[in-house]
Amino acid sequence: MILRKVVLIPFVLLCIAQSPTMRGQTTLAATPPMGWNSWNHFAEHVTDADVRTAADLMVSTGMRDAGYIYVNVDDTWQGTRDANGELHPNSRFPDMKKLGDYIHSKGLKFGIYSSPGPKTCGGYEGSLGHEVQDAQMYASWGVDFLKYDLCSMQDPMRELTAKNNGNTDAAFKMMIDAFRKMGDALKATNRPILYSLCQYGIAEPWKWGPSVGAQMWRTTDDINDTWGRMTIIGLEQADLAPFAAPGHWNDPDMLEVGNGHMTTDEYRTHMSLWALLAAPLLAGNDLSKMSPEDKSILLNKEVIAIDQDPLGKQPTRLYQRGDFSVWTKPLADGRVAVGMFNTALDSRDVALDLTQIGFAQGATLHDVWENKDLGKRTGIYSRNIPKHGVVLLILSK
Ligand code: GAL
Repeated sequence: MILRKVVLIPFVLLCIAQSPTMRGQTTLAATPPMGWNSWNHFAEHVTDADVRTAADLMVSTGMRDAGYIYVNVDDTWQGTRDANGELHPNSRFPDMKKLGDYIHSKGLKFGIYSSPGPKTCGGYEGSLGHEVQDAQMYASWGVDFLKYDLCSMQDPMRELTAKNNGNTDAAFKMMIDAFRKMGDALKATNRPILYSLCQYGIAEPWKWGPSVGAQMWRTTDDINDTWGRMTIIGLEQADLAPFAAPGHWNDPDMLEVGNGHMTTDEYRTHMSLWALLAAPLLAGNDLSKMSPEDKSILLNKEVIAIDQDPLGKQPTRLYQRGDFSVWTKPLADGRVAVGMFNTALDSRDVALDLTQIGFAQGATLHDVWENKDLGKRTGIYSRNIPKHGVVLLILSK
């Protein structure tokens, strides 16, 4: 996995210089995509029946009506290619067109997964050499979303890098060309298929993702359902704010809310960070076992509205003082969302200077998680924040 952490700025700048159209198809992802993906809960065991049940539950739990529209089948649906190169799903997925029809009949959209390499990360069939054929097949199945995961393409990239004495230029070009190839193939189908890059942030995809037709790109390696991993990812996104905008989004990976290994405060921190970051909200929990707390987090209308704000701005990290950080995100209607995060191992009294965030005359405060108006405040606003907790506020003049 050596290449996962490597970035090469000069090559990326070259790509930008060669890409007159930096904006993707804005209509496809005017706000960050929302949905559910099979991987975080079902991983390689997912079946057609699981996905149909998930679609039913997206409706009955209120997820669909809250905006979670995509139902995405991740890795391990693939079978083998026939003599014509046509890829057939494996026995756990008897009929992808019918599955897509079922998902659509629920008012939802159908997502799928592949790799530019010969194999996916799970060792299943990738799209290398079959990009156009696969894209046409997805379109014929009614696919609305493709997650395209680098996986086995890292092998030839490593070989090329070694051949070039550690210089990654050619390997990165190989990768970007491969992502462009599928982007072009999707465009040629004339079906609006949202294109989601998954290559763990290698070579700064936020700088060239739009030029290969992508609407979102992973910025990091995988998330998992732990406080440590979630915060490492969420809190390292501060510098990427300039690269998110309507039509193309930084993706710090899918949500773990509801998967059971974080506390309610920690999941609130997770959801608050992702909403402030204008991140795609792809839930990855077992929808049949949503606790009232999970629902109160994933279905919180105000938090979702912060994520989906039409201005599409990522937040600025105003400051980080030890375990306390403050993030501010301007909203389209002139209000400002503010996240106060306490990553310490105990509760902390923390203070927010309203003047410092542009409210010298004071602000009217609304606490999002408490769903409570806090009235007009001036100067310093102090709160006690629990261990690993967040106070999420909306400020207006
Ligand atoms: C990883 C990817 C995960 C999941 C997995 C499937 O590379 O980051 O989100 O898709 O592959 O094998």
